[in-house]
Amino acid sequence: MSAVPAQMDAWANPTYGPAEGTQRRRVPTPRPNRGEVLLQVRATALAAGDYHVMAGTPWLVKLMFGLTTLKQPIRGIEVAGRVISLGDDVASELQDTEVIAELEGGGGLGEYAVVKADRVAIRPAEVEPSVAATLAVSGSTAAQAVDQAGLAPGCTALVLGASGGVGTFAVQLAKLAGAEVHATCGAANLQLIKEMGASTVFDYRSTDAGDLTPNTYDAIIDVRSDWPLGLSRRLLRPGGKLIMIGSAGSGHPVLGPIPRGIAGALGSIGSSRKSSLLMQSVDHERLIRLLEQVRTKQLTPLIERTYAFDDARDALARVSSGRVVGKVVVELDQ
Ligand SMILES: NC(=O)c1ccc[n+]([C@@H]2O[C@H](COP(=O)([O-])OP(=O)(O)OC[C@H]3O[C@@H](n4cnc5c(N)ncnc54)[C@H](OP(=O)(O)O)[C@@H]3O)[C@@H](O)[C@H]2O)c1
Repeated sequence: MSAVPAQMDAWANPTYGPAEGTQRRRVPTPRPNRGEVLLQVRATALAAGDYHVMAGTPWLVKLMFGLTTLKQPIRGIEVAGRVISLGDDVASELQDTEVIAELEGGGGLGEYAVVKADRVAIRPAEVEPSVAATLAVSGSTAAQAVDQAGLAPGCTALVLGASGGVGTFAVQLAKLAGAEVHATCGAANLQLIKEMGASTVFDYRSTDAGDLTPNTYDAIIDVRSDWPLGLSRRLLRPGGKLIMIGSAGSGHPVLGPIPRGIAGALGSIGSSRKSSLLMQSVDHERLIRLLEQVRTKQLTPLIERTYAFDDARDALARVSSGRVVGKVVVELDQ
């Protein structure tokens, strides 16, 4: 621990609000507790989830992260870094390894961050930190959806909202699973999403669920749409699954995606077309598989822009826009 400074630089804001309120500060360097490791952060990928926590929307976020002030004032949940010290009861082999991890509640926009040892996955040297970081949540969420959908050769899948962080992974992973992939995205990204593996693409601003053919899809991965659930479900074949990940608006102003999730579950009762709300969870094997797919160039994370640590607030503002194509990553020069 002697090499770890008592204080570090971090982009932080203890109160909810827009990116402009986030300031670069000197803060105490976190210390790993039992079962945790301290990471020297190399890269942090940002996502819509960082915006929701930063802004405190939907209101449910405040119940989880702090009613008036944020328990963790530093945003950033997807990181790549080097393990530089270990808490008690952590296997010594982890010392000095290069890993990726999802940080519970944030902390990635600081020079150091603490994470539970059982949440890290070793990063192969061939996969750059800024690329690997994108897998920790966005890649992992898309892979979880493709796994839950049970996609295999012969299946047809529809990805709603294909151009963002989760969507660009979902298109590629559904295709890798052998499915024929259709997708919605903005007009500017139609060609890009085709190049990522979709055979048919629809401009979401001029297409709604009623324009598509019923009984077509084995799975719909709904990353960002506000299509009525009933209309989306009609697009499924019998036995098909609608997997809800997010919505284009912030969902219900208080409860976010939960009412839609409950409506989907209720609507599935007695139906052969099921819908469910996906809750992303850390799965070590899944992270290892994603890292290997990137290492072997089967999967290519799409990074819209990499920001220097000095410009992290601009990266948060970009994510807040809801217009990111692929991922936004902040690189730390250490
Ligand atoms: N359930 C979970 O566990 C879980 C986990 C991770 C993420 N999420 C949620 O998943 C959603 C996506 O997250 P993300 O970080 O991947 O998003 P993102 O990167 O912020 O998505 C941005 C993209 O969405 C596109 N978009 C906006 N409105 C759209 C619409 N109505 N239809 C189709 N595309 C649209 C935008 O394209 P244009 O610029 O062309 O509009 C932009 O390229 C968020 O709601 C997030 O909270 C949930």
